[in-house]
Amino acid sequence: MLKDWSDVYLIGVPEIDEQHKGFFAASHQLYEGILGREGKNAVVDAIAFMRSYAEKHFDTEVDFMRRHEYPGLREHLHQHAAFFRRLDELENDLMIFGPSEDLAERALDITQDWLIDHIADEDMLYALHVKGRAAG
Ligand SMILES: [Fe+2]
Repeated sequence: MLKDWSDVYLIGVPEIDEQHKGFFAASHQLYEGILGREGKNAVVDAIAFMRSYAEKHFDTEVDFMRRHEYPGLREHLHQHAAFFRRLDELENDLMIFGPSEDLAERALDITQDWLIDHIADEDMLYALHVKGRAAG
């Protein structure tokens, strides 16, 4: 199910919050690309865009975590790697079976819903870590 962005997803780091909104938008574009029946190329492009957006965003997060010596970096990197594995599997299935409503829903599940959970469970932790350090 498509969800609207909500400010409850903000972690309080403006650069990363902006990217999370962009990630959300890329996720919706992917969903619409799969449902749009505009053919394989539109789907391939939407996946490629999602992947490159995620790469850029994860790099920003990793820089941020390193800069602030976040102790949970390793575990966080596993979560990012798992995201790409699921995106690869989705791409494979799209190439084999072609676009469908089921695969569009799965795309939302592994991008939009994944991001919502990831922000609440993982990104909030490094944001709190940084705030805790700033407070001394
Ligand atoms: Fe993350």
